[in-house]
Amino acid sequence: MQNETRYGFFVDNVRAVWRAIGAFAILLSMKKSLQPRPVADIAPSAAHAAPRKKRFLRKALSAAAALYLFADLFGKAQFVTCRYEIEDARIQSDVRIAIVSDLHGALYGAGQSEIVDTLETAKPHAVLLLGDLFDQHGNNENTVTLLHALAGRFKCYFILGNHEYKSGETVSIRAAIEAAGIPILDGASAVIRSDETEVRLYGIDDGRGGKAKQLQQIADAAAQRSDDEFSILAIHVPNGVESYLHYGFDLMLAGHTHGGQIVVPGVLNGLYAPGQGFFPKYGGGRYDFGNQTLIISRGLARKPFWLPRICNPPELTLVTLKPRTGE
Ligand SMILES: [Fe+2]
Repeated sequence: MQNETRYGFFVDNVRAVWRAIGAFAILLSMKKSLQPRPVADIAPSAAHAAPRKKRFLRKALSAAAALYLFADLFGKAQFVTCRYEIEDARIQSDVRIAIVSDLHGALYGAGQSEIVDTLETAKPHAVLLLGDLFDQHGNNENTVTLLHALAGRFKCYFILGNHEYKSGETVSIRAAIEAAGIPILDGASAVIRSDETEVRLYGIDDGRGGKAKQLQQIADAAAQRSDDEFSILAIHVPNGVESYLHYGFDLMLAGHTHGGQIVVPGVLNGLYAPGQGFFPKYGGGRYDFGNQTLIISRGLARKPFWLPRICNPPELTLVTLKPRTGE
């Protein structure tokens, strides 16, 4: 079991092994091309200039391809747990909320054991399934496995994302979520409790009703919101978040961006995010707006091959609301 969990990525994703073989082959060819050549072969002359340029280009392309393959293979091998804390005077005892987002049918260990084990250690009061756990490319049985594993252990809530709709299987997806006993927050709210503390979670659907339906759901949620209660807005796509600030939600939770795919630590927080384009303003992580906070989970996606995750590993997100100290 231990080995299955530790090496689950290699067992579960045969294509990853093929990528490793491909990368190895490229490295071998690079090694061969770097072998010292006879002096006559490398003597400078106009006749040799063009082949040397070609060789250099071939080496550069091989190196880039190998780097890409290795980054793709190892950058997605394991998820990290990203933790955030928010203090608030209305919180009497810690409220732990886990975000599982953008799984896209990926499998992390037999029976999703890597995700389940991490959450069992974290002991969240609620698990928020923040959209795009299903998608149109299949492997959705892995998502159903996760739903059943989590629903038996934690209080869970599901918010549909764009890929649940893009799949064209929304009816059966909704049925699968409900069959697991997980409520779908489609403009609805739920209370998360920790001892005497209650916080209110409002879930916004990413549905076919488009932006107008979303804005209506947000406005309806805001009308129910009270300043006496810590309020959370959960929405799959963070785009346009600034226009929601005036509604006064204390915390906004989102996913969808996959961390902007490529990160350069300290320099670039994401190269590209859907809907935001290149150099996204909200690539992933924590954003504070005075007393309001936005947290974007970088999500658990590790497919497809042409979308690498470089310095941006898949992420399970844990948010802890804590009693305010000091002042
Ligand atoms: Fe999405």
